[in-house]
Amino acid sequence: MQITPSILNADFADLGAEVARIGSADWVHVDVMDNHFVPNLTFGPTMVEALARASEIPLDAHLMIEDPDRHAPAYVEAGCGSVTFHVEAAKAPVRLAREIRAQGGRASMALKPATPIEPYEDLLPELDMVLIMTVEPGFGGQKFLDLCLPKIRRARALMDKHGVQTWLQVDGGVSVETIERCAEAGADVFVAGSAVYSAEDPDAMVASLRELAQGARRSAQV
Ligand code: DX5
Ligand code: ZN
Repeated sequence: MQITPSILNADFADLGAEVARIGSADWVHVDVMDNHFVPNLTFGPTMVEALARASEIPLDAHLMIEDPDRHAPAYVEAGCGSVTFHVEAAKAPVRLAREIRAQGGRASMALKPATPIEPYEDLLPELDMVLIMTVEPGFGGQKFLDLCLPKIRRARALMDKHGVQTWLQVDGGVSVETIERCAEAGADVFVAGSAVYSAEDPDAMVASLRELAQGARRSAQV
């Protein structure tokens, strides 16, 4: 059970200090947006590289951009341990996943809420993680979409069927109210943006989220 706070709702003028407030996080989730794939704009590889230097926690880049085939490798070079591209934007997802892995990164593929997992079943062995979006990508602070829960369940079942070690990440509206549903459905990596950065003590929130996820997974397995 890993917690990966998103810095999308953190203070962009002081990102080094913001990352220092989540010391017990497993990864720092970095939302890269290009104003084309999503109607919002954040930052590119230069800033991500500076953040990688400032952070002791590994970076998990979530690329909400067009043409990830061309741009994703720059984020491994910038120092991200994991790079997620959207399957809706990738022209050659297998080639791209292999390229990210060949560079030494963890390769991950994201699905928007309306994108099914089934057509990508055979790609699972090529991926270190699948990200199931639980909001439409583009903004932090949106309401969790319960309609994505059956897809999390089906993705977990496909991973079990293939015996792969692929992680299953959820992103969007994850909070103390919703994380247990995600864990119970089979997610094991949890992105939380506003829930963590609107908390008075972000690191304590990371611990609470992890505890809730672990508890929900334990009761689901009984
Ligand atoms: C949304 C981003 C998320 C977002 C999560 O497009 O991919 O990572 O920052 O923020 P919350 O947890 O507030 O939904
Ligand atoms: Zn994200």
